[in-house]
Amino acid sequence: MTKTPAIPRHIAIVMDGNGRWAKLRHRPRSFGHNAGRKAVREVVEGCLREGVEALTLFAFSSENWQRPEEEVGALMGLFVRALDKETDELHAQGVRLRFTGDLTAFDEPLRERMQASMARTAGNHKLHLNIAVNYGGRWDIAQAARDAACAVARGELRAEAVDEAELGRRMCLAELPPLDLFIRTGGDCRLSNFLLWQAAYAELHFTDTLWPDFDQASLHRAIEDYGRRERRYGRTGDQVAMDKG
Ligand code: IPE
Ligand code: IPE
Ligand code: MG
Repeated sequence: MTKTPAIPRHIAIVMDGNGRWAKLRHRPRSFGHNAGRKAVREVVEGCLREGVEALTLFAFSSENWQRPEEEVGALMGLFVRALDKETDELHAQGVRLRFTGDLTAFDEPLRERMQASMARTAGNHKLHLNIAVNYGGRWDIAQAARDAACAVARGELRAEAVDEAELGRRMCLAELPPLDLFIRTGGDCRLSNFLLWQAAYAELHFTDTLWPDFDQASLHRAIEDYGRRERRYGRTGDQVAMDKG
């Protein structure tokens, strides 16, 4: 019998707390977003070191468009700069970069940069890094349902055959290992419309650490916490213990 692996195969992170981090330093919110880049490098390094296969980071939610125009603009500028600067390093590290979400909302230069980075790193396998931008869990479920409905309309799928597996195949990240660990920094205990479908049986880890302060040690603590969980998937603790042998 196999023991539950102590290392999660797929981790997702709501990178929250940049604004508060900046406020504590009497600096503008964009200063906090900029500082968050270092934390991204830290978790990528950490995942490579710990042997995590996939990392999905929430960078911009479908609700974040409601923020002040100046902050949205600063975030878009940061994405462009980060893409230009970090793609080479990620490629050298063997990271495959993907963007997840409704990318049609972004302007052409940014979309081209995203496509170029994805194409450049497409052959890498050490770590699958997904950046969720203009992503919403409800949008994801809706786009999967729409895709299935279109397949039915084309006569390629029977309506009765639309079940969890059919929809699941059409959700974002379906080609990756199931989500094992969902981390949120910044102290709030909510999902904020991130990976609603995929997180159905993920272990949740909430930490007060603000995103710019999150580092490899913080990631290691979250993974250790995950390693202590008993994942029962509806069964009893005794059944799980029997399985482990
Ligand atoms: C998360 O940090 C980054 C994004 C949502 C883009 P916040 O900007 O939400 O920081 P707080 O929650 O206001 O501290
Ligand atoms: C979630 O953080 C989105 C990202 C981290 C990109 P928010 O700061 O937008 O979440 P709420 O609005 O406080 O729930
Ligand atoms: Mg926030």
